[in-house]
Amino acid sequence: MKALFSKSLFIYVIGIFMLTVITGAVLQLLVNDYIVLFSVLFIQFIILIIILLQIFHRYILPIQKASRTMGELVKGNYRARVHTSFNGSVGELSKKINVLARNLSELAFHEQMQAEQLSTVIDNTESGLVLIDEKGYIHLVNRKFLKMFHKTKQDFIGYLYYDVLNKEEIHQVVQETFLYEKNIKGFFTLSHNVDKIYIEVVGAPIFNERNMLKGAVLAFYDITDLKRIEVVRKDFVANVSHELKTPMTSISGFAETLLEEDITDAETRNKFLGIIHDESKRLHLLIDDLLILSKLEKDGFQLNLSTFQMEDLLEEVIPVMKKKSDEKNITLTTNLTKPTTLTADRNKVKQIMFNLLGNAISYTTENGQVKLTVKEKDGQIHIEIQDTGIGIPQHLIPRIFERFYRIDKARSRNTGGTGLGLAIVKHIVEQHKGTIKVNSALDKGTTFTVSLPINRE
Ligand SMILES: Nc1ncnc2c1ncn2[C@@H]1O[C@H](COP(=O)(O)OP(=O)(O)O)[C@@H](O)[C@H]1O
Ligand SMILES: [Mg+2]
Repeated sequence: MKALFSKSLFIYVIGIFMLTVITGAVLQLLVNDYIVLFSVLFIQFIILIIILLQIFHRYILPIQKASRTMGELVKGNYRARVHTSFNGSVGELSKKINVLARNLSELAFHEQMQAEQLSTVIDNTESGLVLIDEKGYIHLVNRKFLKMFHKTKQDFIGYLYYDVLNKEEIHQVVQETFLYEKNIKGFFTLSHNVDKIYIEVVGAPIFNERNMLKGAVLAFYDITDLKRIEVVRKDFVANVSHELKTPMTSISGFAETLLEEDITDAETRNKFLGIIHDESKRLHLLIDDLLILSKLEKDGFQLNLSTFQMEDLLEEVIPVMKKKSDEKNITLTTNLTKPTTLTADRNKVKQIMFNLLGNAISYTTENGQVKLTVKEKDGQIHIEIQDTGIGIPQHLIPRIFERFYRIDKARSRNTGGTGLGLAIVKHIVEQHKGTIKVNSALDKGTTFTVSLPINRE
């Protein structure tokens, strides 16, 4: 810079020297006195040099500085400033350049902040995002997308989408998005080891200000949970239809026989009527359980809380169960350590007792034992139902809470089970923020323990 400054000044000095020489050559024709001539030339040279220095310092130098600062700004160094103390138009120019530099620096700062915010949002959104230009090159991928595909940024950025995304469904979505210039949806699955995830991909075209296609954004949503719910719902509908169909077929079959054939034998007729009666009772039970379950699963379901004595509740439950256990000669004993108060949905707790005691009696062979213990510990009521029955294989314990799951279908049906009892119990326990535990040994017996918080406030 210093070199530039002295070089340009040197050129101007040479210019003045040349001018002085030319003036001397012209004056020499008019003036004969050399002393006068040299004095005039010397004075002229000095005056011109002084004027030059003045102009150079006042105008040329600041403009050079301003130009250098502008050069820095153009290169993107927004911290460059012009340092001059001049007034007048050159000073004004320097000030304006400095204001411009400050504005640019603020703008760049904001832009950087916005870019950072945007990338934070893009990286933390719950769906995978990919940006593709109109030629098909990938420009951006977010964290969620990389997590879905178990890959890194380097595997995608700068590549053509069809070279690095090996799902035909994605290619189709991109092609149709470009072709029809509107949002296009697609589905595919990804497998990692044993996990299979369902993904919905939505392609959205991007246009520039002249409404020309510039590329597309692909959004990837993990819809595995939704799919699972859909499968469960479909299974449930199929199961319900099947469960309803069995007693219905039986009822209509026997009713038809009674109507069409002239059965005079009272015993046979009564037998048929008995079957129709039993099957309609089964239907009734099934529909009751389905209604209970659907009420429990309804959005906004609320427990009907009250404070009551467990002792009083047992007085309502035990006589009913006793009748059932007596039929199989099963000893039913109750053990309530001390008067226990509980705040809960009384009818629902009663339902838990009926279902668990009912199972204990159903799945225990004749002459067995069923023991009910209610005790209070650590702010919870523990309801323990122990039987000496057939037991549950360890690996099937998690499954018995599924709707319609039975270990032995025929046996469950014979005992009047709907396959929904434990699903209902689990729901009620969860609504009360309680827990349920199962301990079982095959052919020895099973213990169900339900723990409910005493105060639900
Ligand atoms: N106390 C128990 N002992 C042995 N098996 C049981 C017991 N309780 C439940 N189970 C098993 O769990 C399955 C599901 O129970 P549940 O939902 O009450 O349906 P259901 O009794 O109508 O079959 C039963 O079919 C049975 O195989
Ligand atoms: Mg049952």
